Amino acid sequence: MQCKFLNSFPQLAVLVGFSLGVLACRHEQPNYIYMPDMVYTPAMKAQKEGSMRMPVQGTVPRDFVPYPYKNDPERAGRELKNPLRPTRAVLEQGQKIYNVTCRTCHGPLGLGDGSVVPRYPRPPSLQSDKVRNWPDGSIYHVISMGQNIMPSYASQIAPADRWKVIHYVRVLQRSQHPSAEDLKILNQESN
Ligand code: HEC
Repeated sequence: MQCKFLNSFPQLAVLVGFSLGVLACRHEQPNYIYMPDMVYTPAMKAQKEGSMRMPVQGTVPRDFVPYPYKNDPERAGRELKNPLRPTRAVLEQGQKIYNVTCRTCHGPLGLGDGSVVPRYPRPPSLQSDKVRNWPDGSIYHVISMGQNIMPSYASQIAPADRWKVIHYVRVLQRSQHPSAEDLKILNQESN
């Protein structure tokens, strides 16, 4: 007589083996990953060394205007000329930029009495003989490069807008120091 148990032994062995296999599956252990693709990438902190891609050497951002006077304010004053005419539109835009950016420190008329003063050190007056006699290029240099504790505004104010602000600073200066010609016009208007 044949033993039924022995007869079905292969099937039974497979079943037991399979059950043990299933029992061995633990959730803590992930299944075998036969094709991980790009799941496991090296962990890097954003903006840390190695995670930033630097621009190729010698490339510049679009619309980049090189500034060759970085260490030479005198040459900037001599060589840089205001490319804009002080039209009404230019002056109005210059006024807007002045009031948004410069006024907080330099004050509405450039006297150095902005709203952050005296918590922030009082800036020198833009009405001084010194700045009134400065060429436009020297003011352009201060806006572009900063000066001592005044930071550079190169990243906030585009080159053309810097020239507009300078025209507006000239308007402020003229309002406090009118020329004989200006006074003549004023007197005529008030008559
Ligand atoms: C955060 C405050 C602050 C802002 C904003 C600021 N300035 Fe100044 N500025 C200063 C201070 C402070 C100085 C004096 C720096 C120094 O000690 O040389 C100065 C100096 C200057 C000077 C040189 C004056 C001199 O007698 O040497 C000019 C010109 C000038 N600023 C123009 C501007 C213009 C134009 C803007 C707007 C685009 C501007 N500043 C925005 C604080 C500011």
